[in-house]
Amino acid sequence: MQTIIESDYEALSERASEWIAKCVSDKPDAVLCLAAGATPVGAFRKLVSMAREGKVDLSKCRFVGLDEWAGLGREDEGSCKRLLYEEIFEPLQIPEDQLYMFDACSEDLAGQCQAMNRRIETLGGIDFMLVGAGMNGHIGFNEPGTSFDTYAHVANLDEVTQQVGQKYFTKPMRLRTGVTLGLRHLAESRSVVLMVSGSHKADIVERIVNEGISEQLPASLVRKHPNGCLLLDSEAAVKAR
Ligand code: F6R
Repeated sequence: MQTIIESDYEALSERASEWIAKCVSDKPDAVLCLAAGATPVGAFRKLVSMAREGKVDLSKCRFVGLDEWAGLGREDEGSCKRLLYEEIFEPLQIPEDQLYMFDACSEDLAGQCQAMNRRIETLGGIDFMLVGAGMNGHIGFNEPGTSFDTYAHVANLDEVTQQVGQKYFTKPMRLRTGVTLGLRHLAESRSVVLMVSGSHKADIVERIVNEGISEQLPASLVRKHPNGCLLLDSEAAVKAR
């Protein structure tokens, strides 16, 4: 794994967007998996600007969803789907048949996970994942203690995730369960960027960098990835040097 430290969020976002653009210029129909959440929004906006300036063409890319809160759909405040549609899929006018997202409103979430696993196999695997780290070191909704051997699954959300997740909503939410790709998807993806920003993530970054690779710290798995990158801004990196 390589580690890159950028000066601030702006530079971090620039770097992440260039990474995606390079991946797409190498493989125009790449299979991409992008996290929602606050961290990648700057990169998404830069990517959209690059596309509008004709510097990158994502029109042939296929997208697979990383995760979703159980019971939330595209129109719901705080859903991963809503953020990805608003920040990427709609501005770039990605055709619906190139989007493979979880239906977290389904009564059969386990079936959704099995379908996602099959889809990813049919697509030939994931070329690039842009993921973020939770305050507890989760990736997607792979919470501490999740086996590195899992594919998509229904996840019981950790207390920390239930609390921190409130930031995406204007009213208190019951966030007990989610659906997520598994850590084997991450290990098998051709490349992975773990993007982390801000001083509030400095402690978890320090653990990711210095602790052993362990299922108690899912984000540490990126360290084992031959094409893994830990992409930080200087505030997130402050305790890791
Ligand atoms: C979101 C996701 C989560 C977030 C993580 C960091 O799709 O998979 O694992 O990446 O919780 O969230 P932010 O970026 O809001 O700090």
